[in-house]
Amino acid sequence: MTVDAPTWSLESWTNYPVAQSPAWPDLDHLADVTTRLAAQPPLVFAGEARRLTEQLGDVAQGRAFLLQAGDCAESFEDGSADKIRDKLKVILQMAVALTYASGVPVLKVGRIAGQFAKPRSQPEETRDGVTLSAFRGHIVNDEPFGEESRRPDPERMLTAYHQSVATLNLLRAFTKGGFADLSRVHAWNQEFVATSVEGQRYALIADDIERALRFMRACGIDLSREGSLHSVDFYTSHEALILPYEQALTRQDSLTGDWYDCSAHMLWIGDRTRQVDGAHVEFLRGVGNPLGLKVGPTTSVEDLLTLCATLNPSNTPGRLTLISRMGKDKIASHLPPLVDAVRTAGHEVIWACDPMHGNTFNAQNGRKTRRFDDVLEEVRQFFLVHRELGTWAGGLHVELTGDDVTECLGGALELSESDLELNYTSICDPRLNASQSLDLAFRVSEFLQG
Ligand code: PEP
Ligand code: CO
Repeated sequence: MTVDAPTWSLESWTNYPVAQSPAWPDLDHLADVTTRLAAQPPLVFAGEARRLTEQLGDVAQGRAFLLQAGDCAESFEDGSADKIRDKLKVILQMAVALTYASGVPVLKVGRIAGQFAKPRSQPEETRDGVTLSAFRGHIVNDEPFGEESRRPDPERMLTAYHQSVATLNLLRAFTKGGFADLSRVHAWNQEFVATSVEGQRYALIADDIERALRFMRACGIDLSREGSLHSVDFYTSHEALILPYEQALTRQDSLTGDWYDCSAHMLWIGDRTRQVDGAHVEFLRGVGNPLGLKVGPTTSVEDLLTLCATLNPSNTPGRLTLISRMGKDKIASHLPPLVDAVRTAGHEVIWACDPMHGNTFNAQNGRKTRRFDDVLEEVRQFFLVHRELGTWAGGLHVELTGDDVTECLGGALELSESDLELNYTSICDPRLNASQSLDLAFRVSEFLQG
């Protein structure tokens, strides 16, 4: 579809091919669930999504940086307060490291409170002659290889909704209720991180920040009146993959009459669902939220230009974030022509780097993993490409957890393939652990300065 495509409606996406759709066994059941979902309150307000678009506008114009981070796939078994808090801590730490070194404001957007659906390279999986649906994330089915657990079950959408509500509620409490107060900057350093090289480097910055706060107080500045020192804006995002779910949570804003997908502040389109004539692009072009678009190595210049025009016809800065995920071996040849063409066409976009999804491989024991060095190399080349073209390297998009997991190789602890089994808990892709995440933030802040 293009800019002059037929009028958008809540259901117009159903006229287009839907890639990556689960094979729902009972469509009446699906319809019943989406009716019940549509009667639930929204998770976020249109005004919040608009505010995020405005703030992202600063990123598009080279005045701020976007940090988008969180799980590959959230789990129904893993929604505890401690886990959510620890993830938030790492993201806050990364943001402090980035802001302190670069002097650039950092926008914080979580892959959280709704990141439950996964696209798969194969729709089915066969083991010992038995073929079942692939695992598509807890919003669709369950991981164990069994008839029952792999059957797509729409009731799971309601569970995903309720877990998102609980997660977002806690995030709002943490970020507005004192936990994110800058005077607590030391408290975000978890014990196991504090003993690492990155943790110690972080502690030095935290010391500096505390000293600066003391200094300002001594000068007579009333810090209690500075709201931005005591709370942070933290936004949510996920891949808008399961369109019946997204449609059910899309509401008309009473203020503007525009439609907003109120399942999260920001939604993105995955690399497997970005077909210019596909249902995902059709649905998302009609909602007012800021959008992300994954840009992988098979993206053509022509398609990308069409997508920019379709998804952001008003050319609003902050509306569209292009998330490059090429892999370290392809970025140098594939990214520059795309960045150049988008700029030449005059599209106001943010370019962010996802250095995770192009660098995944299977270890000897079959575990999916990524090398920290490859992740770093892709980020380094991303900054290089933008420096050479004179464009702004605007953001980082990563999969991480606040836990001490052993899912990605390397990093300061030099995790090896034989270490992967020690603590591999991801239900989908391998995530950076807390120390690797902080390490990455320090490296990125060096690129931002340089
Ligand atoms: C993801 O972000 O988890 C993902 C599946 O990414 P991509 O669409 O880029 O493969
Ligand atoms: Co992933």
